[in-house]
Amino acid sequence: MKETILKKFEEVFGDNSDAKVYFAPGRVNLIGEHTDYNGGHVFPCALTIGTYGVARKRTDNRLRFYSMNFEQLGIIESSLDDLVPSKEADWTNYPKGVMWAFGEKGMKVPCGMDLLLNGNIPNGSGLSSSASVEVLTGFILKDMFGFDVTNQDLALIGQYSENQYNKVNCGIMDQFAIAMGKKDNAIFLDTADLSYEYAPIVLKGAKIVIACSNKKRGLGDSKYNERREECETALAELQQTVDIKTLGDLDEAAFEQAASAIQSDVRRKRAKHAVYENQRTMRAVEALKANNVARFGQLMNESHISLRDDYEVTGIELDTLVEEAWKVEGVIGSRMTGAGFGGCTVSIVKDEAIDNFIEKVGAAYKEKIGYAADFYVVEIGDGPRAL
Ligand code: GLA
Repeated sequence: MKETILKKFEEVFGDNSDAKVYFAPGRVNLIGEHTDYNGGHVFPCALTIGTYGVARKRTDNRLRFYSMNFEQLGIIESSLDDLVPSKEADWTNYPKGVMWAFGEKGMKVPCGMDLLLNGNIPNGSGLSSSASVEVLTGFILKDMFGFDVTNQDLALIGQYSENQYNKVNCGIMDQFAIAMGKKDNAIFLDTADLSYEYAPIVLKGAKIVIACSNKKRGLGDSKYNERREECETALAELQQTVDIKTLGDLDEAAFEQAASAIQSDVRRKRAKHAVYENQRTMRAVEALKANNVARFGQLMNESHISLRDDYEVTGIELDTLVEEAWKVEGVIGSRMTGAGFGGCTVSIVKDEAIDNFIEKVGAAYKEKIGYAADFYVVEIGDGPRAL
């Protein structure tokens, strides 16, 4: 990969002297969905697939971007004096957003750069290709200009840029999972205070399989922001009767006792998901620590049901993938992952069942939905780095 992208950089930008190669992973969330903006826990991991970047400083303020994933767009030009979001900037709104965010945090980017990207995360799949680009850009800026930031800072800056520059009100999970990724470990993160611990993923005879629905979505056009607002309103209603800071402060019993304070059935369901999913995530990590992978899988299944029925962020594509997966022998657990409304599912499948899983679920999906899903057996990898 390194050779290929350096060659491409030379082809696109004339020569590749002084250019350096970097990588940032994508992520998959194993459990804890739509809890990160509700003060709850999440349990994601970084993947070995992600975004490769080649970068080189310039002597002026110009920015030249090229993506091998969007070759039809050619070189997209801009400047450090023009760090404002625009439709024409297309995908470069992500790296530009991060450059802008560094400036906002007192770390003005001192000169322009040429940047070429090549990602092997399927775009819009819900495996965080955009957060991967954000963390990659932050890592390049840190490495290139010596900014004094930790990987956790890179996660927070990435989220800040996505919220403020790209106007997607995402939580911290994706950027954190990517910036803090550790091979063969998932990250048990408490989004209320950013305390976290690594948990080794030892699946003994099973693997993580991702099924991509190929239904494209972007967070901007999904109902993501609407769900956030519903949760915020439900929290405000609950705060009339209970002393809590976030929905993550409640366990199931406390929620059931207070739930009547929420004035609408829909909002009650949304809040119920946030509370129950958070508790489920804590239990799932306990189960994993006790080597009870079967219990972990069962909790993944329950997570999907809650996302389908109470949070209503699945849709026929994701439901078909998951419900067909549940029918296959050797599937330990299966659920949608990420924001939902399209994107991917994550399943834990016994080694000997993987081929059959891909064949059965793939055929049933094509039959019902009319186009094919893609399957990836993935591995858990490290965070961002120079190559
Ligand atoms: C998206 C957001 C995350 C998180 C998930 C849902 O991936 O970027 O912050 O809210 O959806 O769990």
